[in-house]
Amino acid sequence: MTARSLLAYVNGAFVPADQPVISAHDYGFLYGDGVFEGIRVYDGRPFKLPEHLRRLIDSQRIVGLRATRTVAELSNIVQETCAANQRAISYLRLTVTRGPGPIALDPTAPPQPTIVCLPAEMVPFPPSVLQHGLRVIVAATRRTSPSALSPRAKTLNYLNNAMAKLEALHRGAGDALMLGDHGFVTEASSSNVFVLSNGALRTPPPSAGILLGITRDVILSLAHDLGVPAKEEMLTRDDLYTADECFLTGTASEIVPVIEIDSRPVGPGAPGPLTGRLAGLYRELTRSS
Ligand code: PDD
Repeated sequence: MTARSLLAYVNGAFVPADQPVISAHDYGFLYGDGVFEGIRVYDGRPFKLPEHLRRLIDSQRIVGLRATRTVAELSNIVQETCAANQRAISYLRLTVTRGPGPIALDPTAPPQPTIVCLPAEMVPFPPSVLQHGLRVIVAATRRTSPSALSPRAKTLNYLNNAMAKLEALHRGAGDALMLGDHGFVTEASSSNVFVLSNGALRTPPPSAGILLGITRDVILSLAHDLGVPAKEEMLTRDDLYTADECFLTGTASEIVPVIEIDSRPVGPGAPGPLTGRLAGLYRELTRSS
């Protein structure tokens, strides 16, 4: 099905996905005042839906958006959107904004939130990248400081992420890792990061100022099942440069091997064996649950 024939849920009604109509006064559009979740759909089944909806509620609470739908109601919206589009979708973008309000910034003014569940064919990286690996840079753009706006809330404020990704694309790389306020590694533009060094997996802790990724959690659990030591630990740029393996994790991108960081090969400069094993186990999990 083309995007034209997909149906999006917008404030209680289903409309053609390429024509969702929201107000030009919507605070999500005007000010990035809203939160969202990206949810993968495998064979018609949303993957890790409870975890995504829990985080959506948490994001709303962090930014002071009153939760106007229960988890059950949000779950119904997702299920109805899947049903309305049969099996043609692989990804849903569930967005809640403050809603339409006056141009003068007054977050208390919008009378009711906007809720959109947008189906999409999300392909963040081509199969060749998943097979041969991604080249990334460490961006000059720092990750949003938790003391300014918590990266833990998955808000519509992705300009910070976009600026880092733009740096990467301008330098011929596929994505960018961002450092936090104190120079430690946080995450990539839309995924978390893992390194394998001396047989142990490491990934930045929540205190590094990151989105607590659902895929990141799955990988930590799979590593445990494999008996691979895995720690949440602050990482420096040097930890990236000296890693034996590195990969990104995210709902949309799943597991993406990183083969080069700032023009330095990761290990032999090819996807690592543990990365491949974890990616295979993750694929099995997503297709079986
Ligand atoms: N995002 N960090 C950032 C900044 C992200 O945008 C994402 C995912 C992640 C990974 O989180 P999770 O594993 O819960 O998806 C980390 C896009 C929207 C996505 O992959 O859907």
